[in-house]
Amino acid sequence: PDRTFVMVKPDGVQRGLVGEIVSRLEAKGLKLVAARFEKLPEQRVTEHYKEHLSKPFFPSMKEYIMSGPVFLMVWEGRNVAAIVRKVVGSTNPQEAAPGTIRGDFGIDIGRNVIHAADSPESAAREIGIHFKTTEVFDYKRIDESVLYEY
Ligand code: GTP
Ligand code: MG
Repeated sequence: PDRTFVMVKPDGVQRGLVGEIVSRLEAKGLKLVAARFEKLPEQRVTEHYKEHLSKPFFPSMKEYIMSGPVFLMVWEGRNVAAIVRKVVGSTNPQEAAPGTIRGDFGIDIGRNVIHAADSPESAAREIGIHFKTTEVFDYKRIDESVLYEY
């Protein structure tokens, strides 16, 4: 099955948006298959954001991501990585469309509430960084037979 990695960032947790975000993804028809609440160690933040290591904003982003607990999740569903990116919206909340998570709940690019893997390949890599295979669960949502045509 298609899977993606999603994380409510410290600002999202501190603003009480975990439930709202989980609800939106559940309502879309996606299936939550793993979740953990955790303050990330430096080594995993660096691994997770390694494509951004040399960017000017990296040091402050790392400090912010490590500043409080984050809510880590794996979601499942057909084409889930692309779907979640649309539900999340543009990186800069100021440009994100209303109706998206960042468009509805954020203002600042450095406090954009949520992370979602940008492709199935990134998703597989990020799931491997944050979850053991035994922490990802397989079960059936009772609406699956109605949600999809095929
Ligand atoms: P993620 O889902 O968090 O990976 O965001 P994204 O895929 O929409 O954007 P990208 O991977 O390019 O950037 C990763 C994160 O770095 C963003 O979510 C922002 O929090 C932060 N970031 C990106 N660009 C900037 C910037 O120009 N300034 C600052 N302060 N932060 C930035
Ligand atoms: Mg990204």
